[in-house]
Amino acid sequence: MTKKQIITIAGGGSTYTPGIIQAVLNNADRLPIAEIRLYDIDKKRNDDMYLIIDFMLKKDGYDQVKLSSTEDPKTAFTGCDFIFSQIRVGGMKMREQDEKIALKYDLVGQETCGLGGFAYGMRSMSGLLEIVGYVQEFAPDAWILNYTNPESIVSEAVRRTYPTAKMINACDMTISIEETIAVNYGYDRKNWIPSYYGLNHFGWYTSIYDKSLGRDVMPEIIEKLTTQEMAVADFNEGDKTWQEAFSMMSVITRNFPTHIPNNYLEYYLYPDMVVEHADKNYTRANMVMDGREKNTREMAQKIRDGLTEDVLNFNFGEHGQYIVDMATSLLNDERRRFMLIVPNQGAIPNLRADAVVEVPAYVGATGVEPISLRQPINDFHKGLMEAQVAAEKLLVDAYFEGSYQKALQAFTLNQTVPNARVAKLVLDEMIEANKEYWPTLA
Ligand code: NAD
Ligand code: G6P
Ligand code: MN
Repeated sequence: MTKKQIITIAGGGSTYTPGIIQAVLNNADRLPIAEIRLYDIDKKRNDDMYLIIDFMLKKDGYDQVKLSSTEDPKTAFTGCDFIFSQIRVGGMKMREQDEKIALKYDLVGQETCGLGGFAYGMRSMSGLLEIVGYVQEFAPDAWILNYTNPESIVSEAVRRTYPTAKMINACDMTISIEETIAVNYGYDRKNWIPSYYGLNHFGWYTSIYDKSLGRDVMPEIIEKLTTQEMAVADFNEGDKTWQEAFSMMSVITRNFPTHIPNNYLEYYLYPDMVVEHADKNYTRANMVMDGREKNTREMAQKIRDGLTEDVLNFNFGEHGQYIVDMATSLLNDERRRFMLIVPNQGAIPNLRADAVVEVPAYVGATGVEPISLRQPINDFHKGLMEAQVAAEKLLVDAYFEGSYQKALQAFTLNQTVPNARVAKLVLDEMIEANKEYWPTLA
């Protein structure tokens, strides 16, 4: 019988923790659990989450699972089997800065894309490298399953510093896109074998083979996308941002009907439309603070107040299930297929080998086996990706070398930025706002 596992959540206080733990419990037959540890640098958030997870465990009859919360890395990681990583260096307050500073200059203000994403990347690299370092020291055999954003940038930083780390970088966006398409247009995603290539939050489907229908359904989905906009699926119901994002998939597909795009391409292809629709005083960070964040505090307060009914309030779609499926695939050699963020090394043959790309991959007991496309990608996608990869590489160089010049080059090359003048203005303002978090750039 499989040994009961110890899971450490890095960023235990994250608003996503209840959804992930729910998925862990729902899959206890494939992922038997001895212990859950919440690790966070913020004691208050971690304590709140402890209450919520303790409530969930008792409610579902998992009293035998040991639960702890700690701010001490040695206690958190020693002897653990899996680390689910989901930290946000600087929290939502700094996300708000990323979004608002960029928007002030009429540029896309977004968590992972554009200059907001670069600002977040400069903060996030240090936090994630610290976690990976702790794991190398205290639990070198454990697998790190990472959701921490911005994924392309942090993966590149980890690839350079810990090339042999047992780490899988994944994003839930492709699975959310697939679920939204399936729900809107009447398919069952469980029958799909999707093919896709790109960078994180920057890619395209090349086919979606439906096993039950025995054909590639991508051409008919493209047709549908161009004529009938999608509504958000249950898990994002009533969320204006996601409604706009999925509507923009139709705009992109109408103009470029050769592939199904990742919705995040809207920020690179139509930044002007995105900025026009943005509220510069109330951004996504504000919505999340007033929504998911507030719900989490309220759940903890209800438990403190002794309530036992109507306490839990979360629903994050496939996010938790996806990371749990990765863990079970490693543990039980299930060889399931995921879209993963991996060093290219020929997977996209005509893109530089050291790019960090997002492609399908099988996961089993020996780790990740990415699938090679075996054919070159077209010049349009290649040109877009090359500029993005170079911009991200320059940013990571800037971080390691403490180079202002490299940071300015990265900001200038970012596809959401029209000229070097505005790149410099935003960079200088972001350096000031991130004094506590970024390395010194000279
Ligand atoms: P959040 O702010 O609610 O939670 C993040 C937690 O990390 C906080 O409790 C914070 O105190 C903690 N933290 C910050 N720095 C830390 C450090 N150095 N060490 C340990 N803990 C630290 O954020 P959230 O909205 O729940 O998102 C969490 C992360 O997951 C973000 O990076 C977000 O972008 C990412 N995310 C990724 C995907 C994906 O598909 N890849 C999907 C959703 C969220
Ligand atoms: C998707 C993306 C994540 C991103 C999240 C933002 O899940 O794949 O990378 O972090 O959306 O969601 P939020 O509600 O925080 O804006
Ligand atoms: Mn993502």
